[in-house]
Amino acid sequence: MNILTIGGGGREHAIITALSKSEHVNQLYCAPGNGGISLLAECFPEVKATDIDGIVALAKRLKPDIVFVAADDPLVLGAVDSLNAEGIRTFGPRANAAAIEGSKVFAKEFMRRHNIPTAKYAAFSSPSEAKAYLRGRDTYPIVIKCDGLAFGKGALIVTTEAEAFSVVDEVLCGGKFGDSGKNVVIEDYMQGVEATILVFTDGKTYKIMPPLSDHKRAFDGDKGLNTGGMGVIAPTPYVNAATLKQAEELIIKPTIDGLRDEGRPFKGVLYFELMVNPSDKNAVPRVIEYNCRFGDPECQTVLPLLQSDLAEIIAAVWDERLDSLEVKFSNKAAACVVAASGGYPEKYATEKLISGLDTIEGAALYHAGTRKTDDGFVTAGGRVLNIVAVADTLPLSLKKAYAEIKKVKFDDMFYRTDIGKKALS
Ligand code: AMP
Ligand code: GLY
Repeated sequence: MNILTIGGGGREHAIITALSKSEHVNQLYCAPGNGGISLLAECFPEVKATDIDGIVALAKRLKPDIVFVAADDPLVLGAVDSLNAEGIRTFGPRANAAAIEGSKVFAKEFMRRHNIPTAKYAAFSSPSEAKAYLRGRDTYPIVIKCDGLAFGKGALIVTTEAEAFSVVDEVLCGGKFGDSGKNVVIEDYMQGVEATILVFTDGKTYKIMPPLSDHKRAFDGDKGLNTGGMGVIAPTPYVNAATLKQAEELIIKPTIDGLRDEGRPFKGVLYFELMVNPSDKNAVPRVIEYNCRFGDPECQTVLPLLQSDLAEIIAAVWDERLDSLEVKFSNKAAACVVAASGGYPEKYATEKLISGLDTIEGAALYHAGTRKTDDGFVTAGGRVLNIVAVADTLPLSLKKAYAEIKKVKFDDMFYRTDIGKKALS
């Protein structure tokens, strides 16, 4: 198989690394790609992940056997629909199924229609109606979310009515998040801890991957701003067998069946971000949000545990014969730590020379935001590198990931030093 992957971060580097190990894979391409990816795949940096016409034109030229659309923007923008219209096979949902991530209003209404546990909510486009809903509430915090994609920054947890009003003004009147914030969801705050479950699905059957915990805040102790994710552990201690069973029965299966029944069959990786409450036997897992793709850096953490052939999985998803394929994961544990540029997720500098990459041993190194130059790799993004270690236990995988990340250096580099700490305590 020749495979074109769409995206250019650590997630895509992990996907391409897994595909490069397949005996079925011949040529790998990536658009736009990054410095690390260029070691394994021919990259097309001029074709951005949001450029649907450019992606289709590239695919028509390269004639890959399948296009793996890994990033969220092109999925929500309908890259799969456009590629399929040209007779090109794909891995990833069509726009009408990707809406489960692309529109929070749609996702919440969908969950309501299918009785899928989630926080109580209401949706608004009118600031005065939003304020009327908020007025007089005595239960805070409350969560205000932009309807559309907002780089993980569109969910705001507010603790007073005054704060809630000012968020409504900023988002619905001030255009703070542009079109993404034309509608908002206001939802009840859920207590508990967060965990992620990813599944491969062909729209009919699904294969569950080891549950994970991401660490979204920039700094140790869950301080600082929300980021795309600063580190992940798998399997997460927050999801025991009973919770996983509940999640499957109450959330995973009803979501996949519901989408199919509504004429939106989901083919690809479906991401369930859940609030769980391991200490409360009566609590059921509830959906915080859906994503229509592998998470980043969740993908980097889970793929090193995959023992089956990723190329076979994506082909089976396209053919809708996932039920006949065994998808196996190792029983080991994986830990991912992200090295980021000082200032991320706000303003940061790039073009910093990275040293120590050749010294990483016994752990996977994925490039998230790098560029290859004649002098070596330089930084080219907020999240720069991911180190992922696999070991018999989570503490051992964390120890190894931290031992290896210490060998990498660039100006103003930072990483969280407490990945997995809370979950293991
Ligand atoms: P989202 O963009 O929906 O994933 O939300 C971003 C983050 O906000 C989540 O990872 C949670 O930490 C938090 N969050 C979102 N919705 C809720 C909620 N209803 N209750 C508590 N925390 C939430
Ligand atoms: N790490 C969170 C995400 O990919 O959405």
